[in-house]
Order: sequence, then structure tokens, then C-alpha cells
Amino acid sequence: MDRNQDPAAEGQSRSAQHQLALKELDRLWRRGTEFLGCRYAIMGGAMTWVSERHLVSAISNAGGFGVIASGSMTPELLAAEIEATYKLTGAPFGVNLITLHPRLLELVDVCLDHKVGHVVLAGGLPPAAAITRLKEGGAKVLCFAPAVVIAKKLVRAGADAIVVEGMEAGGHIGPVSTSVLAQEILPVIRDVPVFVAGGIGRGQAMLGYLDMGAAGVQLGTRFVCATESIAHPNFKRAFIRAAARDATPSVQLDPRFPVIPVRALGNEGTKRFMEMQRQVIDRFNRGEVDQKAAQLEIEHYWAGALRRAVIDGDVENGSLMAGQSVGMVTREQPTQEILQELLDEALQALIGRQATSRA
Ligand SMILES: Cc1cc2nc3c(=O)[nH]c(=O)nc-3n(C[C@H](O)[C@H](O)[C@H](O)COP(=O)(O)O)c2cc1C
Repeated sequence: MDRNQDPAAEGQSRSAQHQLALKELDRLWRRGTEFLGCRYAIMGGAMTWVSERHLVSAISNAGGFGVIASGSMTPELLAAEIEATYKLTGAPFGVNLITLHPRLLELVDVCLDHKVGHVVLAGGLPPAAAITRLKEGGAKVLCFAPAVVIAKKLVRAGADAIVVEGMEAGGHIGPVSTSVLAQEILPVIRDVPVFVAGGIGRGQAMLGYLDMGAAGVQLGTRFVCATESIAHPNFKRAFIRAAARDATPSVQLDPRFPVIPVRALGNEGTKRFMEMQRQVIDRFNRGEVDQKAAQLEIEHYWAGALRRAVIDGDVENGSLMAGQSVGMVTREQPTQEILQELLDEALQALIGRQATSRA
């Protein structure tokens, strides 16, 4: 009988192809999985208010690498969150610290006291003291690099891994796209693993960055609507309805009053932000307010806005931080299913390559 007509033989051949693809994927991200100590080199990017014990443990339990977002936390709250996460998973997870946090070194000590293996330093160049203390305490340090020169500097400063995040990402962003940063940084930074983030929604894209030399990837937006995510149903609904083009960076009206770019879904809050900037700038031009006070008014506009949207569900006035991959979020799904989808897509792409190379 022709092997192609024998269902048992066909099944065997499919399973062999699958095994081969899995082996290849394991090879491609081995550096990342060994560094993180998990099955898949897929990090759940820390998202303030969203990345707490439930989502973080779900990602780690499913074979990825969850990261607690400590942006909104005091050292006491972070300690409680780490302890609670340990109760939900025996798998490794990390903690993301914002370098501008006024109590950064105390947060570092909390991570070390609780034996957190990996700490991601985000939001600007990390102080040398934080890197040194973490490394001396036995933690691995991951740092965000928005350009090659900074990546090199961070490696010299002791970073154990680099995260490259392009402007497609949700939340605070730089000006350069993920694809360009990946092309610039991946061939140059070879001494430490590099993880790529921003705009990754499918396994094929993940595989593409691994092919280019990434040790792994980091996704945020795709995990917001995970069943285990505590984001308010209104927040999740906004994600499910949105298309890629709805996730846009905040707009700065006047270069004298800088606005840190944040990618989010547009709503009443973003419209009012423009109006507020216009009014503040008019008042400044009329001499009714000085530059510092005007700048502060603009900076304070979004204070507490992410919590309002994620926790309270006020999706009209809160901040709906989301990446362009939001268009690929189509329903609420268990974390395990999201990871499996990414994996299956990558494996299918690899199986397709095997078929092409045999033809
Ligand atoms: C709602 C939201 C909140 C975020 N908060 C943080 C944060 O607190 N710290 C951080 O380093 N990155 C933060 N990010 C970025 C993510 O960690 C991750 O790098 C990013 O989402 C990856 O790009 P993607 O959204 O295209 O998947 C946030 C992203 C989102 C969507």
C-alpha cells in the first residue's frame, strides 16, 4: 500500500515531523530557555496592574516566564505579591522594577530577600548600584535597550540579558520599530541573550525573531485577555473590539512641553488630553502659569489612569495601554491556550520549511 494512503503511516510521519519541528524550536530558543529556566522562551511582559500573581503564575505554570509588574507597588506590597505568586507556582518567574521608582533599592532588596531569580530593570537607564546589588545577591538582571550603543553599555555594566522593545508595543515606547531594533541589535549583542518585544502576536513572528538570533520573546498585549488576567471585563472587551490601528501613541502638542509617548487605545481620556494640553499651553503663552507648573499639569494628567481602566473598568477616562498586536486579541482565552497557539503556529511554520526543503 502507498504510504500516503495508510492512515497509520501518515499519522506516524506527521508525528515525526512534529518532533523534528519541536527539536528545531528547542534548539532555536535554547539559550533563552536555559537562561530563564523554563520550557518556552516566551516572557509575559510585565504590565502594571495586570501582571500580578494570577497572570504571572498562569504564564509560568504553562511553561512560559511570568513577570510581576511592581510599577505601582511599595516594597511591602511587592513582598506580599512575590510570596503569593510562590504559592501559585513552583516554576520560575521574574519581577519588573521601574528604575525611576523612588524606593528602587528597597525593591531590589525585597527581590533578593525573596530569592527572585530574574529581575527586569525597566523605564530608563538603571543605576549601577541596582545592577551590582542584584548580581551580588545572585539574581540575573535583564535590561531594556532602545539602541545598540545603550545595549553595549548595559552589557558592560553587567546586564545578564537585554530586552529590545519596539514602538509597536503597548505602554511606554521609544521611536524605533521592533523589526529595525532587532536587525540592529541582534547581530551585535552576542555575549548575552537578547529577548525581542513589541508587536508579536503570532508564533510565526516569534519564530522570525528567533531565526534572527533572538534568545526568546516578550509579549504583553496578547496576555491581557487571558482568563487568569484580573483586568476588568470592560478593559478586556475594549481589547477584543480593537484593531491594530486603534492603538496609537500619545500626541505631544508643543515641543516645549514634552509628552512621554505611550501607546494606548483612543478614548474620551485621550481626546481630553489634547484639549488639556491646548489649554495649558494657552495659559502659559498668556503668562498665567510658568513652564514648570505647566509641564507638571501635563505630566500629572494620566496619574492613576491605568488603574482606573484596568481595575475599575473606566475605559472612557482611564488609560487603555495596548500594543498594535491588539488586533490579534479576539477573545478571552486561558493562558495555556495562548501559549499553545503561539507554539503551534511556530511549529507549523517549521514543518512547512521541512516540506519545502524535501520538495
Ligand atoms: C497595559 C500595559 C501595561 C504595561 N506596563 C508595563 C510596565 O509596568 N513595565 C514595563 O516594563 N512594561 C510595561 N508594558 C510593556 C510590556 O511589558 C511588554 O514589553 C509589551 O507589552 C510588549 O509589546 P506588546 O504589547 O506588543 O506585546 C506594558 C504594556 C501594556 C500593554
